[in-house]
Amino acid sequence: MDSNLPIGAASPDAADSEKSHRWYPEGTHITIRGLTKRFQDATIYDDFDLDIPKGKIVSVFGPNGCGKSTLINMISGILPYDAGQILFEGKEARDTRIGYVFQNYREAVFPWMRAIDNIRYPLQYLDIAKGERQARLDRLVESFEVKFDLNRYPYQMSGGQQQLVSIMRALVVDPEVLFLDEPFSALDYEMVMFLRERLQKVLTERQTTTMLVSHDLDEAVLLADEVLLLTKRPTRVAENLPFDVPRPRTADTTLSPAFITTKTRALEIFQREVRKP
Ligand SMILES: Nc1ncnc2c1ncn2[C@@H]1O[C@H](COP(=O)(O)OP(=O)(O)O)[C@@H](O)[C@H]1O
Ligand SMILES: [Mg+2]
Repeated sequence: MDSNLPIGAASPDAADSEKSHRWYPEGTHITIRGLTKRFQDATIYDDFDLDIPKGKIVSVFGPNGCGKSTLINMISGILPYDAGQILFEGKEARDTRIGYVFQNYREAVFPWMRAIDNIRYPLQYLDIAKGERQARLDRLVESFEVKFDLNRYPYQMSGGQQQLVSIMRALVVDPEVLFLDEPFSALDYEMVMFLRERLQKVLTERQTTTMLVSHDLDEAVLLADEVLLLTKRPTRVAENLPFDVPRPRTADTTLSPAFITTKTRALEIFQREVRKP
C-alpha cells in the first residue's frame, strides 16, 4: 500500500475501503484526521490532523485557551467532536485501555474511599483474577515508592499525595494510552520533582503512549520525547520538536545544552504564534 495514503482516503478497491480507512503509519499509535470542533460559534479545531507515536511521551504546549484540554478530551473519548476521525492503531477509543489524570485532583479522587481503594477501583472493570489484581497493586505501590499510609482518606492527605493516588489509579489498569492534563500545576516543587521522576520511570519501563498537557515549558520539554507546539485558534500544529536526551531526566537535565537549545526553539515558536494577529 502507498505509505503516504492518509487514513480515511478513498481506496481504489471498494471492498478494501474499511481496511484502508483504518490504516495508520508504522510506529504511530493515535491517528487524527480531519478533526473539527466548535463551541457555539467558536471554531477550536478545523480539519486538524495529527499522529501520536507509540510508546512515547508527547508534551502538548500552546497559548492559553488554544484547546489543549479540548484535544486530549476528544482523543480520550470524554468529549464529542463535530467531524473527523480519531483511531488508536485502527481501533476506537472505546476499544482501547485509557488512563486519564485530571488537573484538579480534589475533584478526581473519591473522597469517601481510602487511598488504596481509590487506586484499586478501576481494576473491578478488568477481567483479571483477584490474585493478579493484588499483585498489580503491589507492583505499582512499589514502583512509586509510596511512603505514606495508603489507608488514609483523601482529606487526610496532602495535595501531592492525592495527585499521586490519582496518577496511580490511572496506571493500575496498565493503560495503552495515558492522558495527563496539567497534573502538577497545583503542587509544591519538591512533590513535582518526585512525581515527574517516578512517572517518567514507570512510563518508560512500560512504554505507555502518553500525552501530557503542561503550561510549564521546562516541564513540557523535560518529560517529552516530542514537544507538540500548538497555535492560537483555530488551532494547528505550529511545530513538533523532538527531544531525545537519555532518561532518567532530572532537574540537572534543564541545565544541559540540548535542553536549552530545544526550550529556546520552543519559546521562539510560541512567541511567534502568540504575536500573530
Ligand atoms: N464546554 C465548553 N463550552 C464552550 N466553550 C468551551 C468549552 N470548553 C472549552 N471552551 C473554550 O474552548 C477554548 C479551548 O479550551 P481549552 O481546551 O480548555 O483550552 P486550554 O486547555 O488550551 O487552555 C477556550 O476558549 C474555552 O473557553
Ligand atoms: Mg486546559
